[in-house]
Amino acid sequence: MKFGIHTLDEFDLAGKTVLCRVDMNQPVDKATDTLKSTQRIEACAPTVKEISDKGAKLVLMAHQGSDIEYENFYCTRPHAKVLSSLIGKEVKWIDDVCGPAAREAIKALKDGEILLLDNVRFCSEEQTLFEMKLNLTHEQQAQTEVVTKLAPLGDLYVCDAFAASHRDQPTLCGFEQVMPSAMGRLFEKEYVVISELMESPEKPCVFVLGGSKISDAFIMMETVLGGGSADKVLTGGLVGNILLHAVGKPIGQKSVDFIYAKNYEDYIPKAKALYDKYADRIVLPEDLAGVTDGVRHEYTLDEVPEDLSAIDIGSKTIAAYEKAIAEAKTVFVNGPMGVFEEAPSEAGTKAVFEALATTDAYTVVGGGDSVTASRKYKVADKLGYVCTGGGALIRFLTGEELPVVKALRHAAEAF
Ligand code: 3PG
Repeated sequence: MKFGIHTLDEFDLAGKTVLCRVDMNQPVDKATDTLKSTQRIEACAPTVKEISDKGAKLVLMAHQGSDIEYENFYCTRPHAKVLSSLIGKEVKWIDDVCGPAAREAIKALKDGEILLLDNVRFCSEEQTLFEMKLNLTHEQQAQTEVVTKLAPLGDLYVCDAFAASHRDQPTLCGFEQVMPSAMGRLFEKEYVVISELMESPEKPCVFVLGGSKISDAFIMMETVLGGGSADKVLTGGLVGNILLHAVGKPIGQKSVDFIYAKNYEDYIPKAKALYDKYADRIVLPEDLAGVTDGVRHEYTLDEVPEDLSAIDIGSKTIAAYEKAIAEAKTVFVNGPMGVFEEAPSEAGTKAVFEALATTDAYTVVGGGDSVTASRKYKVADKLGYVCTGGGALIRFLTGEELPVVKALRHAAEAF
C-alpha cells in the first residue's frame, strides 16, 4: 500500500481478469488512422506488459479526445497497433466498449492476452462536459452502463491513467466502488515524484499556461492564483487570446471568431473576472503573431490588424517570458504558446522550452502537447520532471485530492 492505495505488488495476477484504465490520449491523424505522437502509450506500456507477463487476461480501457477536444475524438484502433509493437505482443482491439461484442471478447481472453476496448468516451456517461454538468457521485458512477456491464467480468481494476486522474468519470472512479482496485506503475511513479517535488516549491514560482484546453486552464489559474502557489502566470495560446479579448485588447476578428466557433464565449466574462482579481500576477501577451501565405508577421497590441488570426505570441512577449523564466526558482508549464506544429508559428513555444532548458529553476512540464514540445525542441532531458498529465498535475499541485485518488483510496478500505 502506498498513499493509502493498493499497488500491483499486492495482487497475484495469474489467471485473473484485470480491467485496466490507461491514458493513451494522443493527437490523431484521422486521414491516415495514425497517431501524431506516442509518448503516453510508451509511458503506460510497462504496466501493460507486467500485467500480461504475470499471466492475467488484460482488458484495457482508454479515452481518445473528448467533447472539449473534439478534433482528436477518435477510436482506439491505432493505439492497439502502437502498443503491440512497443511491448512485442499482440494487443487485440474491438470496436465496442461494453456491449455484447466487447463482453464476449473479454470472456474469450486467455491468460496473458490483451484486449483494448474502443474509446470509452463513445459512451455518453463518460463525456467530459457531461461529468461537469451532471456531477455523478462515485456511487452513481458505479451504476453506469460501462461499470455494471464490465465489472462482473473482472477480478481486479487497475488505474494507470494518472493524466486523467482529475476527471470524475465512470471508467476512472466507478469501478473502485465495486471491486478490488490498485494503481498501475506509471500512476505510482508520477504520484511519488510529484508529491516529493511539491513538498515546498521554491519561490518565485511561475506558471506558463497556454494551449487550447480552456476549461482546465481557467480552473488552474483560479486555483494556483487563489491558493498562492503562483507568483506569476504567463499566458499564451488560446488562453492568452481569451484573456486579451476579455479585457478589451484587440486580437483580430479571426481570433475572436475562433473563440466563438469553439463555443468558448462563456470564458470571456470568466477571464475578465479573473483578470480583475489577479491583474498584478496574470501576465498577458504584449504582442501577437499571425501567418499570411506562410510568412510570419508580428504586431504590438496597438497595431493588430482587424482580421488577424493570432496563432503565436510575438518577440516582445517572448523576451519578457524568457526573463521571467530565468529569474524564477520553480516553473510549471502546461500548454504551448501557439501553433507550434508549424514553423512560422512555433517561435513562442520554442523560446519558452529553450528557456526552460537553460534556467536554474526547477522545471516541471505537464500535458500531452507540452511533452511533445519538450521532445521536439530536444529539451526533455534538461527538465526537472516531465509528467504525462497536464490538468491532473496542476490540480494535484493545488493540494486538492484528485477524484481517482479518492476512489482508489476508497477501494483500498473497502476491499
Ligand atoms: C489529457 O490529455 O490531459 C488527458 O488525457 C485527459 O484528457 P481530457 O482533458 O480530455 O480529460
